[in-house]
Amino acid sequence: MFRALVLGSISLLALTSGAAAADGQKIFQLQCKTCHLQKSSLSGPSLVGVSKRAIAALPDYAFSEALKGKSGTWTDENLDAFMSAPKKFAPGTRMPGSWPVAADRAALIAYMKTLN
Ligand code: HEC
Repeated sequence: MFRALVLGSISLLALTSGAAAADGQKIFQLQCKTCHLQKSSLSGPSLVGVSKRAIAALPDYAFSEALKGKSGTWTDENLDAFMSAPKKFAPGTRMPGSWPVAADRAALIAYMKTLN
């Protein structure tokens, strides 16, 4: 039952990605924007264009060795894994916190695709 509900809401999110992006924007404003501004700052790198970008690739931010050591790009799967447990994805990363709700992560990923 719970599983069906969760799967149901995930496919609903996939169908209504516009709505998901709007939800993601709200979460982003509350929980990410303090560190992730339009431009990179001491608090964190810019996330403009982050979807599909190489991991830790911005020249204007001093990423941790932990994140620089990861190869690959910010696919949906990598973004999901990173937000779900940053320190598991890249032990030693300086990004604190974790976002355990899958639907929130899906909404955030949809929103990040709109950041250009
Ligand atoms: C307290 C500050 C803080 C908050 C809040 C925060 N981040 Fe971060 N984030 C960072 C820092 C610092 C880094 C760089 C980490 C490193 O170099 O190890 C980072 C890195 C990232 C990266 C990798 C960027 C790249 O170019 O490789 C992504 C993606 C990201 N954060 C997403 C998010 C999202 C989405 C949220 C909100 C759900 C969030 N962050 C909340 C501080 C924060």
